[in-house]
Amino acid sequence: MAVNVFTGKLAVVTGGGSGIGRELVRQLAAQGCSVAACDLNPDSVAVTAATAWAAAPPGVAVTGHVCDVSDEAQVLRFRDELLEQHASDHVDLVFANAGVFGGASFVKDSRREWERTLAINWGGVYNCARTFLPLLIASGDGVLVNTSSVSSFWATAGPGAPPITAYSTANFAIKGFSEALIEDLRSNAPQVRVVVAMPGVVSTDIAENSRRALGLPELEQLSDAELLEQIPDIGLAILTGMGLLAEDFSADDLRSAIPRMRDELRGKGFSAAQAATIILDGVRSGAWRILVGDEAKMLDEQVRANPEAPFNYDNYAEMYGPLIAQAQAEAEAAGPSEP
Ligand SMILES: NC(=O)c1ccc[n+]([C@@H]2O[C@H](COP(=O)([O-])OP(=O)(O)OC[C@H]3O[C@@H](n4cnc5c(N)ncnc54)[C@H](O)[C@@H]3O)[C@@H](O)[C@H]2O)c1
Repeated sequence: MAVNVFTGKLAVVTGGGSGIGRELVRQLAAQGCSVAACDLNPDSVAVTAATAWAAAPPGVAVTGHVCDVSDEAQVLRFRDELLEQHASDHVDLVFANAGVFGGASFVKDSRREWERTLAINWGGVYNCARTFLPLLIASGDGVLVNTSSVSSFWATAGPGAPPITAYSTANFAIKGFSEALIEDLRSNAPQVRVVVAMPGVVSTDIAENSRRALGLPELEQLSDAELLEQIPDIGLAILTGMGLLAEDFSADDLRSAIPRMRDELRGKGFSAAQAATIILDGVRSGAWRILVGDEAKMLDEQVRANPEAPFNYDNYAEMYGPLIAQAQAEAEAAGPSEP
């Protein structure tokens, strides 16, 4: 194995039980980096730690911890646990990745859901910076990687999609905080650098994981009326377009179409493994700003070129057309999926 910047280091990954976080843990461990991963979900983070450790080269340790990043006391306990288990007095890398998709409407959705989304996404990043910055300083060569999203510069999921007010507010805060830290660290802690990662859509289980983290019932458990209210028109159009729902559908049809859609989409699209590789390559290259995926690069260009245009959706088809054509060409090249 070639020695690289992660070899022999100790990394912290929050939200390591699933998606991008799980892939960060796996890839870091495979590159010779010890990792302490945490998650709200004890089972999923235990699986991540066990599988990543089993596949890692000798000398690497991967530990799994239970922690709600929105609660500073739990983050402090996670810190103490990992320092003891890894017999270390510092950490070299912190990936503040844990997050949920929620708090859609400031008008319609519950204040509790809105504030919990902000507490996890922004509060989690804040608590991790407060807790781990002294340990990154102690490393002598530390990197703090905060995960935001394209919704930190394009505060919409597109026409017909539900609003993303709490999610986007948190992501703007994460991006702003990270950028403001650049100068602060340059002057006051030059041995640490900060990186902000901004993914576009990544194919993960974030929708289901978020309902659990926010204390919301699974979609399948909702009453017919609640279920119909939860699925936006664009979601219905996607289900119909995929042939999973007839035009004159019932609530039961919708109920059974949702898991079938999840199965159809699983493993397709821009993957968590691809996202993690881009983030790690960016960290390795010294970048402070990582656009994760073609969608993120396209949106960044569009918003910079003409900040008002992407919000009126006039050129939405033009913006997404090349990416859709590219995805279709890749799907055709990959051949038909398993029945
Ligand atoms: N998937 C996307 O399309 C996308 C796009 C842009 C940004 N992001 C961001 O990337 C990050 C990872 O998302 P993902 O898609 O891998 O999601 P995911 O749901 O697959 O993984 C997130 C993990 O975080 C955990 N988590 C949730 N709340 C937590 C809390 N309070 N404390 C500790 N762990 C908690 C979940 O249990 C889950 O295991 C998030 O910050 C998300 O906002 C994702």
